[in-house]
Amino acid sequence: MCGIVGFTGLKPAAPVLLQGLERLEYRGYDSAGIAVFKNHKISVKKSEGRLKTLCDLIDNGNGMDSTAGIGHTRWATHGKPSDVNAHPHKSQNGKFAVVHNGIIENYAALKNMLIEHGYTFVSETDTEVVAHLLQFNDDGDMLSTISKTIRQLEGSYALGILNAELPGDVYAVRCASPLLVGVADEGNMIASDIPAILPLTRKILYLNDNEIVRLTAKKVEIFDLDLNPLFREITTITWDISAAEKGGYEHFMIKEIMEQPKALSDTIAPRIKDGDIQLDGVSFDKETLQKFKRIHIVACGSAYHVGVVGKYVIEELTRIPVIAEIASEFRYNNPIVDEQTLVIIISQSGETADTLAALKEARKRGATTLSIVNVVGSSIANASEHVLYTWAGPEISVATTKAYSTQLAMIYLIGLKFAKELGTIDSAAFSEMLDAIKALPEKAQTALQTAPEIETLAQRYAYLEHAYFIGRNLDYAVALEASLKLKEVSYIHSEAYAAGELKHGTISLIEDGTFVVALSCCKQLQMKTMSNIVEVKSRGAEVLLIACENEPFIENHLKDVDHAITVPSTHPLFMPSIEVIPMQLLGYYIAKARNCDIDKPKNLAKSVTVE
Ligand code: G6P
Repeated sequence: MCGIVGFTGLKPAAPVLLQGLERLEYRGYDSAGIAVFKNHKISVKKSEGRLKTLCDLIDNGNGMDSTAGIGHTRWATHGKPSDVNAHPHKSQNGKFAVVHNGIIENYAALKNMLIEHGYTFVSETDTEVVAHLLQFNDDGDMLSTISKTIRQLEGSYALGILNAELPGDVYAVRCASPLLVGVADEGNMIASDIPAILPLTRKILYLNDNEIVRLTAKKVEIFDLDLNPLFREITTITWDISAAEKGGYEHFMIKEIMEQPKALSDTIAPRIKDGDIQLDGVSFDKETLQKFKRIHIVACGSAYHVGVVGKYVIEELTRIPVIAEIASEFRYNNPIVDEQTLVIIISQSGETADTLAALKEARKRGATTLSIVNVVGSSIANASEHVLYTWAGPEISVATTKAYSTQLAMIYLIGLKFAKELGTIDSAAFSEMLDAIKALPEKAQTALQTAPEIETLAQRYAYLEHAYFIGRNLDYAVALEASLKLKEVSYIHSEAYAAGELKHGTISLIEDGTFVVALSCCKQLQMKTMSNIVEVKSRGAEVLLIACENEPFIENHLKDVDHAITVPSTHPLFMPSIEVIPMQLLGYYIAKARNCDIDKPKNLAKSVTVE
């Protein structure tokens, strides 16, 4: 939700902090700030607006020669974006400075207690509570002061902390918010995510909840809450730094759309061996699978839309009832899950607060949990019984594309593997579907060739106020994602409807020129969807049809629509992977034509670590 960094080393800290923050801006970008040591004090510079505003304000850190500091890029939760609410926040006596990602849930009670003890607050943030609390608990020993302070905090937090009396030291702690340590000869670093650390080093230490870390230029020490030292293995990050850079593309979103064939191949290929599917050691035998009376797929945002596809695909393949649920609803619904339930959790970041809470709730109730996660070592990965990683690589654009696609691929692999174990599919159909999954990267590559055509269409639709996406069955599941993609990056109001539902109300909104995107890749429902297309056309809608190429039925009906984009066909259950590609491109090119800030849409953040 916010991005935090910290550095201490043998060179000026400010440029390292600013470079790190630039790579974390996807996490929040409404204000930014840094704190460094200066003349036995802590100097804080912060500003509302993008990181660029801060960089201009402090001349990119030139002249700030301190070799240690912390930094923050914010997505406002408590208190509007403003200079004063921007982090870092200082304690009343100026001794401590704090940057924070997450939410201190009991901040109001702590704030009242501190006010009663004479503390005055200058910001509206929950974070300022932590700064004052450090002063309140200060016993002259920094580790014990931090330990006492975090024992009083409830909620989720990753904190970077400076103490004016310990120049050169950077302290950090995490609880249900991401935080990593980078280790290098030139110095040591903390950050919310790997891309911020990669310019300095590939050597990473993962931290667990409630661990305190002390960084000096030469040393990294980790302690538990009782201040016992802990040992941690160094992990070497293997992906290339260019994976977190634009590499000649104008935006991360289009780069990541174009990377989908490779991401799909990286996710699928290692799991297909000798004509079978191997799920990284996650294996459920027939008896275990038969025990599951129900499968719940729980996630947020686009990952939830993958869950909707999963409902159709896994039910069809295994005949086990599947329920796709939004994590923020599931967790408070008194969900009916027990030892006879499998809960599949889907999350790119592995940090989404509601999804993490849903996972914990499911475990508490005795369900078996299997998570599909992109970020290695993330909170959801750590808290799950079984984990399958999507190997999409770093996804920087706030609007997800390649992570969504690799999550779909994992759902197909899981569904097909379960069906084989259960015996709900014969071996000929299994092999045919396995071949279809193997061919997805190539088909996705062909679907990407629709880009120039869609860019031209986008010019025509760029200035619309509303858009409707319709489809049935799996086309409806993709319509949900297509609609979200368009609205989140272009700010056009858009909605997705199951095509058969239109006449139960929504059709009253259709008038001359209303833009309707009709997805019709489900062959067995083409005729039904076509009837709905004719219904909206006759009320004046302008229809863009998305369909499979070389389909006689579609070719006969091209006259009934205004535009048609066709994509290569694959097994009907896997069509979402192909038909979503023109939909991602449509969102991207319309947003580009509208001159939107595509990689950082207003009010959004990539990783939502608050409820
Ligand atoms: C945010 C992102 C979405 C994402 C959702 C869930 O809203 O902008 O792209 O689908 O969070 O995130 P997760 O990391 O759990 O997949």
